[in-house]
Amino acid sequence: MRILFSAGEIAARVDALAAEIARAMPADFVMVGLLKGAAVFVADLVRALDRAGAGPEIEFMRLSSYGLAKESTGAVQLLGDVPADLAGRPVLLVDDIVDTGRSIAYATAQLRERRIGNLWTCALLDKPQRREIEVPIDFVAFSIGDVFVAGYGTDYAEKYRHLPYIGVVE
Ligand code: IMP
Ligand code: MG
Repeated sequence: MRILFSAGEIAARVDALAAEIARAMPADFVMVGLLKGAAVFVADLVRALDRAGAGPEIEFMRLSSYGLAKESTGAVQLLGDVPADLAGRPVLLVDDIVDTGRSIAYATAQLRERRIGNLWTCALLDKPQRREIEVPIDFVAFSIGDVFVAGYGTDYAEKYRHLPYIGVVE
Protein backbone atom coordinates (compact mmCIF):
# COMPACT_ATOMS: atom_id res chain seq x y z
CA MET A 1 0.00 0.00 0.00
CA ARG A 2 1.29 3.40 -0.98
CA ILE A 3 -0.09 6.15 1.29
CA LEU A 4 -2.23 8.62 -0.64
CA PHE A 5 -3.73 10.63 2.25
CA SER A 6 -2.32 10.41 5.78
CA ALA A 7 -4.49 10.40 8.90
CA GLY A 8 -3.49 14.03 9.52
CA GLU A 9 -4.36 15.12 5.98
CA ILE A 10 -7.75 13.40 6.24
CA ALA A 11 -8.53 15.02 9.61
CA ALA A 12 -7.71 18.51 8.29
CA ARG A 13 -9.78 17.99 5.14
CA VAL A 14 -12.77 16.57 7.09
CA ASP A 15 -12.75 19.64 9.34
CA ALA A 16 -12.71 22.03 6.36
CA LEU A 17 -15.45 20.05 4.60
CA ALA A 18 -17.61 20.04 7.75
CA ALA A 19 -17.38 23.83 7.93
CA GLU A 20 -18.49 24.02 4.28
CA ILE A 21 -21.39 21.60 4.90
CA ALA A 22 -22.49 23.43 8.07
CA ARG A 23 -22.71 26.69 6.10
CA ALA A 24 -24.66 25.17 3.21
CA MET A 25 -27.13 22.78 4.84
CA PRO A 26 -30.44 23.58 6.56
CA ALA A 27 -30.26 23.17 10.35
CA ASP A 28 -32.54 20.11 10.59
CA PHE A 29 -30.77 17.87 8.09
CA VAL A 30 -30.38 14.10 8.36
CA MET A 31 -27.11 12.50 7.34
CA VAL A 32 -27.63 9.13 5.64
CA GLY A 33 -24.40 7.12 5.43
CA LEU A 34 -23.89 4.16 3.10
CA LEU A 35 -22.56 1.09 4.85
CA LYS A 36 -20.07 -0.24 5.28
CA GLY A 37 -17.60 2.00 3.48
CA ALA A 38 -18.79 5.38 4.76
CA ALA A 39 -18.99 4.39 8.45
CA VAL A 40 -15.56 5.73 9.45
CA PHE A 41 -15.98 8.92 7.41
CA VAL A 42 -19.47 9.55 8.86
CA ALA A 43 -18.18 9.05 12.41
CA ASP A 44 -15.48 11.68 11.93
CA LEU A 45 -17.66 14.00 9.85
CA VAL A 46 -20.48 14.26 12.43
CA ARG A 47 -18.01 15.22 15.14
CA ALA A 48 -16.39 17.78 12.85
CA LEU A 49 -19.91 19.08 12.09
CA ASP A 50 -20.52 19.48 15.80
CA ARG A 51 -17.38 21.63 16.05
CA ALA A 52 -18.73 23.62 13.07
CA GLY A 53 -22.01 24.23 14.90
CA ALA A 54 -24.24 21.67 13.14
CA GLY A 55 -26.10 18.75 14.75
CA PRO A 56 -27.44 16.34 12.14
CA GLU A 57 -29.40 13.18 12.85
CA ILE A 58 -27.66 10.03 11.60
CA GLU A 59 -29.11 7.14 9.58
CA PHE A 60 -27.52 4.40 7.51
CA MET A 61 -28.42 2.34 4.45
CA ARG A 62 -26.54 -0.70 3.29
CA LEU A 63 -25.88 -1.31 -0.38
CA SER A 64 -23.74 -3.88 -2.08
CA SER A 65 -22.25 -3.89 -5.55
CA TYR A 66 -18.61 -4.93 -5.55
CA GLY A 67 -18.37 -8.30 -3.89
CA LEU A 68 -14.72 -9.19 -3.57
CA ALA A 69 -13.56 -7.75 -6.87
CA LYS A 70 -11.86 -4.47 -7.68
CA GLU A 71 -14.22 -3.81 -10.62
CA SER A 72 -17.90 -3.06 -10.17
CA THR A 73 -20.29 -5.83 -11.20
CA GLY A 74 -22.74 -3.10 -12.08
CA ALA A 75 -25.53 -4.62 -10.01
CA VAL A 76 -26.43 -2.62 -6.92
CA GLN A 77 -28.55 -4.24 -4.22
CA LEU A 78 -30.22 -2.87 -1.12
CA LEU A 79 -29.12 -5.11 1.76
CA GLY A 80 -29.88 -3.02 4.81
CA ASP A 81 -32.80 -1.20 6.25
CA VAL A 82 -33.79 2.07 4.71
CA PRO A 83 -34.22 4.82 7.26
CA ALA A 84 -37.87 5.29 8.14
CA ASP A 85 -39.84 8.52 8.20
CA LEU A 86 -37.57 10.84 6.24
CA ALA A 87 -40.55 12.42 4.48
CA GLY A 88 -39.90 16.09 3.84
CA ARG A 89 -36.52 16.05 5.61
CA PRO A 90 -33.41 17.60 4.05
CA VAL A 91 -30.95 14.74 3.55
CA LEU A 92 -27.18 14.63 3.12
CA LEU A 93 -26.32 11.29 1.52
CA VAL A 94 -22.75 10.26 2.33
CA ASP A 95 -20.71 7.60 0.56
CA ASP A 96 -17.07 6.62 0.75
CA ILE A 97 -16.23 6.59 -2.96
CA VAL A 98 -18.13 7.67 -6.06
CA ASP A 99 -16.73 5.60 -8.92
CA THR A 100 -19.14 4.79 -11.80
CA GLY A 101 -21.88 6.61 -9.89
CA ARG A 102 -24.22 3.60 -9.84
CA SER A 103 -24.33 3.17 -6.06
CA ILE A 104 -25.06 6.77 -5.23
CA ALA A 105 -27.62 7.00 -8.07
CA TYR A 106 -29.37 3.91 -6.69
CA ALA A 107 -29.32 5.23 -3.11
CA THR A 108 -30.65 8.57 -4.35
CA ALA A 109 -33.55 6.83 -6.08
CA GLN A 110 -34.33 4.80 -2.94
CA LEU A 111 -34.44 7.96 -0.85
CA ARG A 112 -36.58 9.84 -3.36
CA GLU A 113 -39.17 7.04 -3.12
CA ARG A 114 -39.39 7.90 0.57
CA ARG A 115 -40.39 11.43 -0.43
CA ILE A 116 -37.55 13.15 1.36
CA GLY A 117 -37.05 16.91 1.06
CA ASN A 118 -34.03 18.36 -0.72
CA LEU A 119 -31.08 16.05 -1.20
CA TRP A 120 -27.36 16.83 -1.08
CA THR A 121 -24.59 14.32 -1.73
CA CYS A 122 -21.18 13.99 -0.15
CA ALA A 123 -18.25 11.69 -0.90
CA LEU A 124 -14.97 11.07 0.84
CA LEU A 125 -13.39 10.24 -2.52
CA ASP A 126 -14.52 11.11 -6.02
CA LYS A 127 -13.17 9.42 -9.16
CA PRO A 128 -14.61 11.71 -11.88
CA GLN A 129 -12.72 9.93 -14.70
CA ARG A 130 -14.58 6.70 -13.94
CA ARG A 131 -18.10 8.10 -14.04
CA GLU A 132 -20.71 6.23 -16.10
CA ILE A 133 -23.81 7.78 -14.57
CA GLU A 134 -23.87 11.54 -14.05
CA VAL A 135 -24.73 12.29 -10.42
CA PRO A 136 -24.07 15.67 -8.85
CA ILE A 137 -21.76 15.40 -5.82
CA ASP A 138 -22.15 18.51 -3.70
CA PHE A 139 -19.34 17.95 -1.21
CA VAL A 140 -16.12 16.05 -1.97
CA ALA A 141 -13.25 15.56 0.46
CA PHE A 142 -10.73 14.38 -2.16
CA SER A 143 -10.82 13.96 -5.94
CA ILE A 144 -8.57 11.16 -7.20
CA GLY A 145 -7.62 9.54 -10.50
CA ASP A 146 -8.34 6.02 -11.70
CA VAL A 147 -6.66 4.14 -8.86
CA PHE A 148 -7.96 1.50 -6.46
CA VAL A 149 -7.70 2.66 -2.87
CA ALA A 150 -8.35 1.22 0.59
CA GLY A 151 -8.28 2.33 4.21
CA TYR A 152 -10.25 4.76 6.40
CA GLY A 153 -13.40 2.63 6.00
CA THR A 154 -12.86 1.62 2.39
CA ASP A 155 -11.84 -1.94 1.62
CA TYR A 156 -10.21 -4.32 -0.79
CA ALA A 157 -11.97 -7.69 -0.35
CA GLU A 158 -13.03 -6.60 3.18
CA LYS A 159 -9.45 -5.84 4.20
CA TYR A 160 -7.88 -2.50 5.21
CA ARG A 161 -11.04 -0.76 6.49
CA HIS A 162 -9.33 -0.28 9.86
CA LEU A 163 -6.38 1.70 8.48
CA PRO A 164 -6.31 5.34 9.64
CA TYR A 165 -4.95 6.47 6.26
CA ILE A 166 -6.01 6.00 2.61
CA GLY A 167 -3.61 4.07 0.43
CA VAL A 168 -3.38 2.85 -3.16
CA VAL A 169 -3.65 -0.94 -3.49
CA GLU A 170 -0.90 -1.98 -5.90
P1 IMP B 1 -19.90 2.96 -7.99
O1 IMP B 1 -21.26 2.40 -7.77
O2 IMP B 1 -19.22 2.39 -9.20
O3 IMP B 1 -19.85 4.48 -7.96
O4 IMP B 1 -19.00 2.41 -6.83
C1 IMP B 1 -19.04 2.96 -5.59
C2 IMP B 1 -18.68 1.95 -4.52
O5 IMP B 1 -17.68 1.03 -4.95
C3 IMP B 1 -18.09 2.70 -3.36
O6 IMP B 1 -19.09 2.98 -2.42
C4 IMP B 1 -17.06 1.77 -2.83
O7 IMP B 1 -17.61 0.95 -1.83
C5 IMP B 1 -16.66 0.90 -4.00
N1 IMP B 1 -15.39 1.35 -4.60
C6 IMP B 1 -15.21 2.05 -5.73
N2 IMP B 1 -13.91 2.31 -5.94
C7 IMP B 1 -13.25 1.76 -4.89
C8 IMP B 1 -11.87 1.73 -4.50
O8 IMP B 1 -10.95 2.26 -5.14
N3 IMP B 1 -11.61 1.07 -3.33
C9 IMP B 1 -12.55 0.49 -2.55
N4 IMP B 1 -13.85 0.51 -2.88
C10 IMP B 1 -14.20 1.15 -4.03
MG1 MG C 1 -19.51 1.48 -0.86
